[in-house]
Amino acid sequence: MLVTGGAGYIGSHTVRALREAGRAVVVLDSLEFGRPDAVIDAPLVVGNIADQELVTATCREYGVTQLMHFAAYKSVGESMENPTRYWRNNVARSIELIDACIDAGVSEMVLSSSCSVYGTPAQVPVTERAPIDPESVYAETKATLERLMTWYGVTKGLRSVSLRYFNAAGASFDGRLGEEWTFSLNLIPLAMKAVLLGDRRLQVFGDDYDTPDGTCIRDYIHVEDLAGAHHKSLEYLADGGGSAQVNVGTGTGSSVFEVIRATERVAGQAVPYDVVDRRLGDPVATYAAPEHAEQTLGWSARYGLDEIVRSAYEWHRSQVATS
Ligand code: WQD
Repeated sequence: MLVTGGAGYIGSHTVRALREAGRAVVVLDSLEFGRPDAVIDAPLVVGNIADQELVTATCREYGVTQLMHFAAYKSVGESMENPTRYWRNNVARSIELIDACIDAGVSEMVLSSSCSVYGTPAQVPVTERAPIDPESVYAETKATLERLMTWYGVTKGLRSVSLRYFNAAGASFDGRLGEEWTFSLNLIPLAMKAVLLGDRRLQVFGDDYDTPDGTCIRDYIHVEDLAGAHHKSLEYLADGGGSAQVNVGTGTGSSVFEVIRATERVAGQAVPYDVVDRRLGDPVATYAAPEHAEQTLGWSARYGLDEIVRSAYEWHRSQVATS
C-alpha cells in the first residue's frame, strides 16, 4: 500500500501500526514537514505526490493496490492568508496523485478528512448526516476531496473511506513518535510547551462561552486510536465495503480548562496561562457522534484525555531532554 505523508504526525503512527499488523507499506513524503526517522520499518520514497512518473514507478515497484493519503497542508489560518497554496497542494496535487494511482491499479483508498468540513455544527454530537459547511479554505479543500472521491467512485470504480478526524493529539506510548511542537498552533502541544519550557504562557482563547466552564469544547482523539481507524478502514474496503465518510472521534468533549487540568495532573505543576480574547472562527463546541464508525468500521476509540495528555507530556519531555 502507498502511504503519502507517512513521515508526518498521524501518517507515521499509522505506518507503524500497519507494519505491526504485517501490512506491506511504502511511504511517499516530500519531507517538507515529515521526518525520515519517523518512518518505522517501511521504505521511504522522497518526492512530491504530484510527480506522476514517481508515483507510477513506486506503485509498480511495490505492487501497490491501495492508497492512504495523508499528505496535505493543515493550518486553517494559513489557508485563509494563502488560499492558492492550499488549493494547489491539497486539491490539485491530490488529483495528480489519485489519477496516477488509479492508472497503476489502485482501487481502494483512505483519505484524511477533517471534522472541519462541518464548520460550526448546529447540533452536537455531530453525526455524518450533518450539513457540510466549511468555514475555511483548508476545510473546503477536504470537503472538495471528499466530493472528488464520490466521483472517482462513479467514474473509475475507486472505493474510499474519508475519515473525518476530530482533534488528533497525544504520542505513541513507547515514546518513539509524537507531534512536533515547533510550528504547531494546537492546544495540546502549546500546553506542553507552556508547562515544560515555561518561556511562554499558554493563551486561553476566551472563557466566556456558553459552556459549563466558559471555554470551548473539542473531541481530542489519541493518535494511536486514529491509526487504528485507518487499519479498520482497509479491512472494511478489503471486505468489499462501499465508499463512506466516517467521524473519527471519541464522542466525549473536553474543554480547554479540562485539558489544562489534565496537563497539571500529569506534570505535577501548574500550567501558566492567560485568558485572552476569543479566536476568530472557533466553534463553541464540537464532538463526534462515534456510532457510525463503530457500525461501519467496527472501530471505537480506546483512549481518553488522560492518556492523550500523559503520552504527549512524556514525549515532549523526552524531546526537551535530548535537545
Ligand atoms: C483547540 C481548542 C481553541 C490554542 C483543529 C483544526 C481542525 C481539526 C481539528 C483537522 C480551541 C483552544 C487553542 C491555544 C487555546 N482537524 N486553544 N489556546 O481549532 O479545534 O481544530 O484540529 O483537520 O480542522 O483546525 O484545534 O488545537 O487549535 O484548538 O485556547 O493556544 O483550544 O480555541 O477551543 P481546533 P486547536
